[in-house]
Amino acid sequence: MAAHRIIFANEKGGSGKSTSAVHAAVALAVKGHKVSALDLDTRQRTLGRYLDNRAALMKRDGLDLAMPAYHTFDPAQRVEIGESLDQLAADADYLIVDTPGRDDDHVRAAIASADTLVTPINDSFVDLDLIGQVDPDNYKIKRPSFYAELVWDARKARAKQDGGTVDWVVMRNRLQHLEARNMRRVAAALNELSKRVGFRVIPGLSERVIYRELFPKGLTLLDLAAIGQDAGVAHIAARGELRELIAGLQLPEAAAAPSREAEPA
Ligand SMILES: Nc1ncnc2c1ncn2[C@@H]1O[C@H](COP(=O)(O)OP(=O)(O)OP(=O)(O)O)[C@@H](O)[C@H]1O
Ligand SMILES: [Mg+2]
Repeated sequence: MAAHRIIFANEKGGSGKSTSAVHAAVALAVKGHKVSALDLDTRQRTLGRYLDNRAALMKRDGLDLAMPAYHTFDPAQRVEIGESLDQLAADADYLIVDTPGRDDDHVRAAIASADTLVTPINDSFVDLDLIGQVDPDNYKIKRPSFYAELVWDARKARAKQDGGTVDWVVMRNRLQHLEARNMRRVAAALNELSKRVGFRVIPGLSERVIYRELFPKGLTLLDLAAIGQDAGVAHIAARGELRELIAGLQLPEAAAAPSREAEPA
């Protein structure tokens, strides 16, 4: 069976694509699944660099952490993006693709090939504006915007290609619970838009400093216990959010090897 493809994409930069892609890849690997990850952001290579750091730490400290197989797409090699995706998908349960915060043909091809398309957005009307424009007086949706149209086109292309469907999930990332009024307004606009454009809305990760600190070691929230750094309630809450995020993706369950999960569900 070919892998279930999960593509993280949003033209808006800094919305949390790479951070959530790495966390999702590791979370699925921790469950015992065979995970491949592809970085389409050839320039920044955040996902690739994150997992390089992880590999280096594992080697340096002799750690046995769950590790996705990972690759960076190289346009210079003249392999078609579709072919690259197919090759990686042939050999995994889940294929995770991180994309750059811009529009290009490779990203469009990846979106059209998605089984699950995850668009993280910051909880702000600035980010929402790419998907839909709101009325300044009542914050109701006036019209869908260009990113919704881009995904619509990709879905049409996919239907034509193999009759497949793309489950589009908009993930509200970096939530700050102190901003209750803004959260409510963005939530209402997103819910309205979701019905018009055809996506599901799920909660993502809260705004937490820890996500910015984990990168140099290539660690995720799920590894802290393994390196004896599991500190406190905040991390337990954060792991709960990550678990909910994965559950919210509603992925088909692949047969798993024995899980590495230390913590009971
Ligand atoms: N939940 C979070 N809490 C705190 N900081 C976060 C969170 N998610 C991401 N960040 C930080 O926000 C910044 C952008 O995140 P990230 O690189 O994952 O976004 P991106 O969408 O991949 O960006 P780009 O479009 O540039 O590829 C990084 O500094 C990252 O550490
Ligand atoms: Mg990125």
